Amino acid sequence: MFNCRVCNHQIEPFMDFGPMPIANGFLKKEEFAEEYFFRMEVAFCDHCGAFQLVEQPDAQRMFHENYAFFSSLSKHMQIHFKAYADFVMERFFAGRKDPFVVELGSNDGIMLRNFKEAGYRHLGVEPSENVADVARAQGIQTISEFFNLELAERLVAEYGHADAVICANVMCHIPDINNVAAGMAKLLKPDGVLMFEDPYLGDMIAKTSYDQIYDEHVYIFSATSVSWAFGQHGLELIDVLPQVTHGGSMRYVFAPKGSHAISPNVAALLEKERAQGLHKAETYEQFRRNCEASRTALFGLLERLHQEGKRVVGYGATSKSTTVLNYCGIRPEHIEFISDTTPIKQGKYSPGVHIPVRPYEEFKQNPPDYALLFAWNHAVEIFEKEGAFTADGGKWITFVPEVRVL
Ligand code: TYD
Ligand code: ZN
Repeated sequence: MFNCRVCNHQIEPFMDFGPMPIANGFLKKEEFAEEYFFRMEVAFCDHCGAFQLVEQPDAQRMFHENYAFFSSLSKHMQIHFKAYADFVMERFFAGRKDPFVVELGSNDGIMLRNFKEAGYRHLGVEPSENVADVARAQGIQTISEFFNLELAERLVAEYGHADAVICANVMCHIPDINNVAAGMAKLLKPDGVLMFEDPYLGDMIAKTSYDQIYDEHVYIFSATSVSWAFGQHGLELIDVLPQVTHGGSMRYVFAPKGSHAISPNVAALLEKERAQGLHKAETYEQFRRNCEASRTALFGLLERLHQEGKRVVGYGATSKSTTVLNYCGIRPEHIEFISDTTPIKQGKYSPGVHIPVRPYEEFKQNPPDYALLFAWNHAVEIFEKEGAFTADGGKWITFVPEVRVL
């Protein structure tokens, strides 16, 4: 038993993924001996609807200098964040006098750049100095601090209230959601808007995409759970917009109660979540069984290919792959290496199971019999790019929504 991080009710974990390393903790051989593991158990709170990790490693273990995740390296993400910024500007800034936007977890400025270029007052809050420096170098105003209620009060004193507080792939990382939500509510104007987007629980349950669960994602949100959590802080859900990013995300728009009209999308999604059973413990029992079946199928396939002497290479050393590899008990004999385009991951080993990560060029030069698609959230882009691999007889292995060879 432990207390729900959102509403404090007593809850029971329904699934244990076993010992897990830090998902993004790609490491060198000499670091194997002191690798850190935590017990990855998940729970669902039937009082407030929050799907959450029971134990989460300390922030210092997950986000350190080597973490260095630079959002702007991805073209597709640049396009996505431009569209997000346009949505805020067109729908909420039109007709406002000198609006002010604050982004939490603004990274290297990938989203705020668009507000800056449009001439809007903006402020990024990004605790990682090295990524914040990249934003500052482009003239995007950024402070390096952790956001909380106390910082919100200082920001109001210094800059005034915000017309919009926005974030993406940040809220679901924050264990003390109540403190941050209170800070966001404090920072907003009485007619301001708050919005964030994160991987969506409805997609994860529907697709058995359990690889969304890893140390950084302390929550997997639904409309039901966020409207409960933010409702405690005087905010109401006024719109919801599904996104294709990260294998299925949801953008939630909140505003101080009574300040904005509520889109019919909200009631429709809440109803859809009920129909999907997101409020019921049985749904999560079924999810656990689906995960177990997926594990058996993937491990069985890789064992068979190994016995047949086939070469299998992982495609994309994603954070998500750490959950799959460790939960399924996949070993270096099953996967020769994982191909990845990110220089800091290359030459290192995957967390926990220690499969080597090699540059993409090695995949191109010596294509395997099978490519196991860990970066399935980028499947469209990857299949477009890898036509030659399939044309030459290469096969893909996917595991979302089910284990299949394509
Ligand atoms: P990402 O989508 O951020 O997933 P996660 O949040 O689970 O880490 O990571 C994608 C990874 O895949 C990143 O390390 C880059 C790599 N990648 C390739 O190697 N080739 C590709 O064509 C693409 C799209 C990604
Ligand atoms: Zn709860």
